[in-house]
Amino acid sequence: MRLGMIGFGNIAQTLLTQLKQTLDAPLEHLAVLVLPEMVDETEARLTSEFASVAGEFAVVTDAQALLSHRPELVVECAGHAAVLAHAPSVLHAGIDVVIVSIGALSDEALEKELRAAASAGGARLILPAGAVGGVDLLAALGAAGGLEVRYRGSKPPLAWSGTPAEQALDLGALDDAAIFFRGTAREAAREFPKNANVAATLALAGAGFEATQVELVADPAAPGNVHEYSVVSPLAKYTMRIENLPSAGNAKTSVSTVYSVLREIRNRIGPVAI
Ligand SMILES: NC(=O)c1ccc[n+]([C@@H]2O[C@H](COP(=O)([O-])OP(=O)(O)OC[C@H]3O[C@@H](n4cnc5c(N)ncnc54)[C@H](O)[C@@H]3O)[C@@H](O)[C@H]2O)c1
Repeated sequence: MRLGMIGFGNIAQTLLTQLKQTLDAPLEHLAVLVLPEMVDETEARLTSEFASVAGEFAVVTDAQALLSHRPELVVECAGHAAVLAHAPSVLHAGIDVVIVSIGALSDEALEKELRAAASAGGARLILPAGAVGGVDLLAALGAAGGLEVRYRGSKPPLAWSGTPAEQALDLGALDDAAIFFRGTAREAAREFPKNANVAATLALAGAGFEATQVELVADPAAPGNVHEYSVVSPLAKYTMRIENLPSAGNAKTSVSTVYSVLREIRNRIGPVAI
């Protein structure tokens, strides 16, 4: 496979480590799109740590250069700004894009642009389950309509540092769980953009950004990043609770996110997709 990757941070590097350990054969080609100031470091790290992942490598700084390497699939793991800057051109060129920064799609104009680019290019925007699970059932039930989806995201109090939770609560002094946000997935994404991925994933799979209800909680007893949601539909009801371990390089990223992207790649390469 010829793979393109946007970003070379924690998710990208953990993904390459997983590919190194699990691929039966190296990728044919890997092209990585990074910020200009990251080029030298990325080239050095690819050579020293990830040489066995692909037969050939390229490091580029814009979407046209990425496309010149003819990737069959591009994986974005870089953030909202990178989705905006690069994903439309890649989709327009007919190449499928896996978007990890799904919270970016809470920006209605960007969601519209991505959908239009995918339609024009005959490509697909692939939204992996990421840190959450059960998205297959939610998306399937969504087709029947009548969904009620309630999501609750809990983290240890200090994991909410640097967010508006700091204004609502004394994060260092909590003894019990405290809910500091209640609203729609659209409002949650606007107020907590760095924590918007799971709410956005559930909204896009199911009832949409306005009808998906979100609660955010600072909980001293939370064992990590905990995602709970319940779904009521005319066809079925279910609840999910996922306790994620943080990724070694970035406590804000649940490590299962990387495995969810790995699954998308393996499903493209292997004889069975599941
Ligand atoms: N879907 C989910 O469940 C889920 C879960 C966790 C994280 N995420 C998202 O995944 C993304 C990456 O997470 P991470 O932990 O790897 O972050 P990170 O900060 O470790 O890495 C991001 C990398 O992207 C690079 N970058 C930023 N802007 C860029 C641009 N315009 N072009 C090229 N490279 C650019 C940065 O230099 C950095 O190396 C974040 O947007 C995060 O919100 C999604």
